[in-house]
Amino acid sequence: MTACKKLKFKTPAKINLGLHIHKKREDGFHELETLFQMVAWYDELEMEETPEKVELLCETPGIPNDESNLVIKAARLLQSRFPGKCGGVKIKLQKNIPSGAGLGGGSGNAAGALLALNILWNLKLPQSELIAMASDLGSDVPFFLMSPCAIGKGRGEILQPIESPISFYILMIYPGFPIATPWVYGNLKLKLTKAENNISILTNFLMRSEFAQLGAALYNDLEPVVIKRYPEILEIKNELLNSGAGGALLSGSGSTVFGIFENPEIADKALARFTGEKYRVCLAKSITRFSEFFPEEMISAF
Ligand code: C5P
Repeated sequence: MTACKKLKFKTPAKINLGLHIHKKREDGFHELETLFQMVAWYDELEMEETPEKVELLCETPGIPNDESNLVIKAARLLQSRFPGKCGGVKIKLQKNIPSGAGLGGGSGNAAGALLALNILWNLKLPQSELIAMASDLGSDVPFFLMSPCAIGKGRGEILQPIESPISFYILMIYPGFPIATPWVYGNLKLKLTKAENNISILTNFLMRSEFAQLGAALYNDLEPVVIKRYPEILEIKNELLNSGAGGALLSGSGSTVFGIFENPEIADKALARFTGEKYRVCLAKSITRFSEFFPEEMISAF
């Protein structure tokens, strides 16, 4: 079989159904435990092998086309680890997922780029090696190569896949402004965060399909820091709950707030309440399989 020279695929967003911070580490990162869930809000990528240049075309305002983009960083990481084995690549990126939003859009792009380049450059790296390399690009990147739902420990890169039997609707509200992750962690008052770690309780509700309990148990230790600075986040959260969401929460370090719904009609009505000029909104289902967005040739490379 000849190697495939061009791949077109989508990369999803994620939400954190739970996020517990244990402590600040000596390396400056925070030791955490989180329940990640992929959501069907997608960016679109096209990657074509070229002789030597790494080139990114992205027309979305505010998204850098240079070496600071995680997609380019993914290509450079492979080139530095496997000198002489990597060619060039022309990447077209269409951003739909807002950035600085706590939705892991850029992390998903980087994970997709690693997987695609593994194929285009015929590197034949196993999934475990790609996941290990992915953590050099960012704490959330390995998750996007692991499983649609997973518990993340360490700084988020130590992953345990979760078989989620339920699929549900997620209404995401991007308030129109990004939030920088380092600012949120820098302002975290660890003494004021919840003492208990409820991630395993939350995971059990998910695995037992106990949707009402799952909704009530959503929690994020980063949320109070963000609400204190941006009270609008709390208003959105309350409006989601008043619209019938089973639970509502800030995703990661924000700025997106999401609500979860079991019933699609209630979710649609809630979407209508938020649709307008003020916010960017997306109603999407939780993802249960990689085959929902990666083409067959990318999945078989796992
Ligand atoms: O790994 P990532 O690039 O996403 O991290 C961005 C920033 O978020 C880090 O530089 C750090 O300030 C903060 N962070 C943290 N603990 C984590 C993840 C991120 O302190 N587990």
